[in-house]
Amino acid sequence: MAIRLIRRYRFAASHLYRRPEWSEEENLRRFGKCSNLPGHGHNYRLTVTVTGEVGPQTGFVVDLAELDRIVGREVLEQVDHHHLNIAVPEFAEGGRIPSSENLVAWIHPRLTKALPAGVRLVSVRVAEDEDLAAEWNAD
Ligand code: NI
Repeated sequence: MAIRLIRRYRFAASHLYRRPEWSEEENLRRFGKCSNLPGHGHNYRLTVTVTGEVGPQTGFVVDLAELDRIVGREVLEQVDHHHLNIAVPEFAEGGRIPSSENLVAWIHPRLTKALPAGVRLVSVRVAEDEDLAAEWNAD
């Protein structure tokens, strides 16, 4: 019987929504205040859900310390107290916009490839505040 484990993390980061190929007016029209230089910050919440069989001896789906180390290394250390447009190559000028949607898309493959055998990622949720979140779900 597969059981889901849900773990929530926090990080603070700043970002800027701006397309260099667009004019100042177009950036303002499409992105609003999110295009204001040099950017603005959020206290993000990252919720990671994994599934797997419960170990008969441990009672765990995953070693929580190991999950925390993986999320720390693959995500939190890369973004916490950083400017996303500078710290993450994918979000550099001319690249993808560091929206919550694109953060989820960036986090998903990093965690998928790093999780231990027998543990499957089923959801990644990034909330930039209590009113807005983006989420990927396996089903
Ligand atoms: Ni923002």
